[in-house]
Amino acid sequence: MSNSQHDNWGSRVGLILAMAGNAVGFGNFLRFPIQAVQNGGGAFIIPYFVCFLLMGIPLLFVEWSMGRFGGKHGHHSTPFIMETMDKRAFWKYIGVFGIFTNIAVAAYYCYLESWTLSYMYHSVAGSFTGKSSEQVAAFFNDYIGLKTMEPLFFWVLCLFLNVWILSRGIEDGVEKAAKIGMPLLIMFGAFIAVKGVSIRAGENGAIFDGTLGLNFLWTPDFSTIWTPKVWLAAAGQIFFTLSVGMGSIQCYSSYLKSKDDVALNAMSAGWMNEFVEVVLGSAVIIPISVGYLGIDKVVELTQTGGFGLGFKTMPYLFQQWGTTIAAVVGLMWFGLLFFAGITSSLAMGSPWISFMRDEFGWKTGQSAWLFGIIVLLLGFPTVVFFNEGVFDEYDYWAGTVGLVIFALAEIILFAWIFGMEEGWKEINEGAEIKIPIVYKYIIKYVTPIFIAAVFIGSLPDIYNKIMAETTSYVKISRLLLVVVYAAICAMVYTAYKKRIKEGRFIKKDLL
Ligand code: ALA
Repeated sequence: MSNSQHDNWGSRVGLILAMAGNAVGFGNFLRFPIQAVQNGGGAFIIPYFVCFLLMGIPLLFVEWSMGRFGGKHGHHSTPFIMETMDKRAFWKYIGVFGIFTNIAVAAYYCYLESWTLSYMYHSVAGSFTGKSSEQVAAFFNDYIGLKTMEPLFFWVLCLFLNVWILSRGIEDGVEKAAKIGMPLLIMFGAFIAVKGVSIRAGENGAIFDGTLGLNFLWTPDFSTIWTPKVWLAAAGQIFFTLSVGMGSIQCYSSYLKSKDDVALNAMSAGWMNEFVEVVLGSAVIIPISVGYLGIDKVVELTQTGGFGLGFKTMPYLFQQWGTTIAAVVGLMWFGLLFFAGITSSLAMGSPWISFMRDEFGWKTGQSAWLFGIIVLLLGFPTVVFFNEGVFDEYDYWAGTVGLVIFALAEIILFAWIFGMEEGWKEINEGAEIKIPIVYKYIIKYVTPIFIAAVFIGSLPDIYNKIMAETTSYVKISRLLLVVVYAAICAMVYTAYKKRIKEGRFIKKDLL
């Protein structure tokens, strides 16, 4: 069955770039290096790769094939994709995560994305020229403290750009953006990475070689390898960076044709993300900041840095290369962050748009505008109450916990209820590579146990978070997230009733 408002990928390159763009985001350039440093550098890398092989890759296979399977039955968002895989009604409400998480993450992610636009402007306008490191950090603090209206302007502009691209549809919007953004991102990233690792102690005020930072990241350290916190951080990073457990991969792959390959495509996009994260992502912030500030200072900064570190420190460090180079490299750095961000936020808008099109017959443009309005409303508290912790609250519940819960549910559905025999056939249908058979067993046993362990391991932290004294800003932001989830459940229920009334039964195509 095909979608009445036909929309498809224009080319394979476009699909892979869009999927890689979905994955490559702030997670690669801002979150990864900070997570790695916070968790002991080399100690982090081993759990990180184990999580990639045993959780990331299997989830990529599962999500890509779930999406293509759903698309065959005319579904492009997870509530009804999941219900097509098992008749029990509750799946569609679990599938709500695949729309909710995208909206909730977009609500804070787009604000972060808008900082990059502003910082591109300020890099070229010379706003950081001659500023001390404290002044550059203060510039950021004033920015997020809303000392001027500028952050609101760039935020709205950024949302507008997202809506405009989304309203053009898959091929003309998302795919074109990825085809332009991804090559530029890789070019800019490679240029800055080469500059970063070739920093020499004593030149332009550097205290250490850039390679010192790389060695810190890459020298395996087995002393903390059995610390649960390091494993949880590594697993969280794999979820976030690959965008698994979100629902956006399923949405993109639902626009594949029924015999299109998913195995090789999933690996191409997944490994491209890893290349950008591990090779480029680790060769920018850490080598440059370690070169100028030393390891101890960088470790100290990352304890409080979060996503903001790349904004607080990099413009100052670039100044050490001279005013003109600082402007060019600043433009490249924030430009690459912008492309990384927007190709991910576009993917976050797609499940909502597909849901409105499939279930309520809305046009792509209308659905894109409504997405923009929802993100504007839900994101507003993250902008005005950033310092009160609303931004971090969304990141925790939607961008961390939500991904794990949804991934656990979908792998159980795929491997145990839909069934691994069927599932393996789905993954291999049209496959242009031979997937090692061991992955059949990994998907069935190892990945669910692994994700369950991650979830159980996070429970104490979740419990402490819920029990801790907190401000009313935080409480209201949690309530908002619950309201959004409930509202989407209500829409799914309405859509379900509508389907029955119109005789468009979910399982019809399977009978
Ligand atoms: N995968 C996206 C990122 O890394 C969400 O930022």
